[in-house]
Amino acid sequence: MLGRVRKLTIAIDGPAGSGKSSVARRVAARLGYLYLDSGAMYRALALKSLEAGTPLEDENKIESLARETRIELRPPAPGQAGADAGNLVFLDGRDVTARIRTTEVAQAASRVATVAGVRSLLVALQQRAGANGGVVMEGRDIGTVVFPLAELKIFLDASPEVRAERRWKDNQEEGGAMTLDEMLERVRDRDRRDRERRLSPLVRASDAVLVDNTAMDVEETARLIVMLAEERRKELARTSGRES
Ligand code: CDP
Ligand code: CDP
Repeated sequence: MLGRVRKLTIAIDGPAGSGKSSVARRVAARLGYLYLDSGAMYRALALKSLEAGTPLEDENKIESLARETRIELRPPAPGQAGADAGNLVFLDGRDVTARIRTTEVAQAASRVATVAGVRSLLVALQQRAGANGGVVMEGRDIGTVVFPLAELKIFLDASPEVRAERRWKDNQEEGGAMTLDEMLERVRDRDRRDRERRLSPLVRASDAVLVDNTAMDVEETARLIVMLAEERRKELARTSGRES
């Protein structure tokens, strides 16, 4: 029989609307792992830049702002939300969980995320947060830069039209007034910035499993990834010969 293998580090990367957050939360809840949303960190810094009126094109100012900022991700308090709820996000001690979820903050996040000094600070924070394993972290560069040795890497994707439609539905439910075409344009714009930036662009790691969930729902996608995680654990147990 297979023994207990140390918990895995699971990296999930992919473009906006590919389902990273919903799927990663579910996978983490099933496996009893810690869920960490790296994008929330870029969003928190973006919110601070917008509130402070710091020009997003002024890289030096954005980098100094990042250096004097405290960003913290916490799992939701027990009983406060379902087991697969997202992280609570604190910016300099203030709960900004809801405020960072606007389209404006998302666009600004993809701009502050191009600054080298910002990336090195946030990557270090992410590496510390996931250092003990037993973690599902999602973002753009988790499998390539943050945890290049992650035991399981997933590159989650879906067609731009389906991703924009998912985001548009979310926006409608929140009372937003954007049209589907406007949302598609925003999604394409952010895709371009994330894929074409010089530093840590969004790219599939060579050892990542490509999961295209254009025609799959959240539950099916999560089930597939949990299965891949179980297989990986078995494989590691076999190759190590015994539990660790
Ligand atoms: O984190 P990311 O931007 O990659 O996507 P998300 O926020 O997890 O998903 C965006 C929306 O698409 C959510 O409302 C999900 O429930 C939905 N979704 C879906 O309908 N089918 C999927 N296979 C994945 C996500
Ligand atoms: O949920 P969604 O996919 O819309 O975006 P997010 O994961 O909250 O990330 C917001 C932005 O932060 C992205 O468009 C990226 O520019 C940036 N980001 C990044 O550069 N690296 C990460 N590991 C995560 C996010």
